[in-house]
Amino acid sequence: MKILILTCSLAIFGMCCHTQAEGGRDLFMTNCASCHGNDGKGQTAIGKKLDAKNLTESKFSAAEIEKRIAAGTKDAKGIVKMPAFAERLSPQQISDIAAFVKSLGH
Ligand code: HEC
Repeated sequence: MKILILTCSLAIFGMCCHTQAEGGRDLFMTNCASCHGNDGKGQTAIGKKLDAKNLTESKFSAAEIEKRIAAGTKDAKGIVKMPAFAERLSPQQISDIAAFVKSLGH
């Protein structure tokens, strides 16, 4: 019985979700959308105030996006613009989000 349940849940999991970008979508909505918007365009109240970038037009590679998520960004005076996520998200989660961000541009 246990094995049957396990097999079924694996099958359901395998069928429906969880390409890397789709896993990143949930994480993006939780961690990033407040500034960058659900569509990544940055048209939220806080996004406009901070001048959050329109991620659908970002020219960055996935690796560069991962770096920015992990380390955040600061302006020339060292004031934080985008917070760092390295302590809140695992490298796998950061990589999933970067895959989702890359998928926004297409
Ligand atoms: C508190 C608001 C805020 C949150 C939350 C936030 N960002 Fe940002 N993000 C910014 C701002 C502001 C910039 C512009 C930074 C700059 O110009 O230095 C930015 C820039 C970026 C860039 C660079 C885009 C480019 O082409 O220049 C990427 C990629 C990015 N954010 C992804 C994310 C992801 C992914 C998350 C969630 C893990 C996230 N951000 C969460 C505010 C935020």
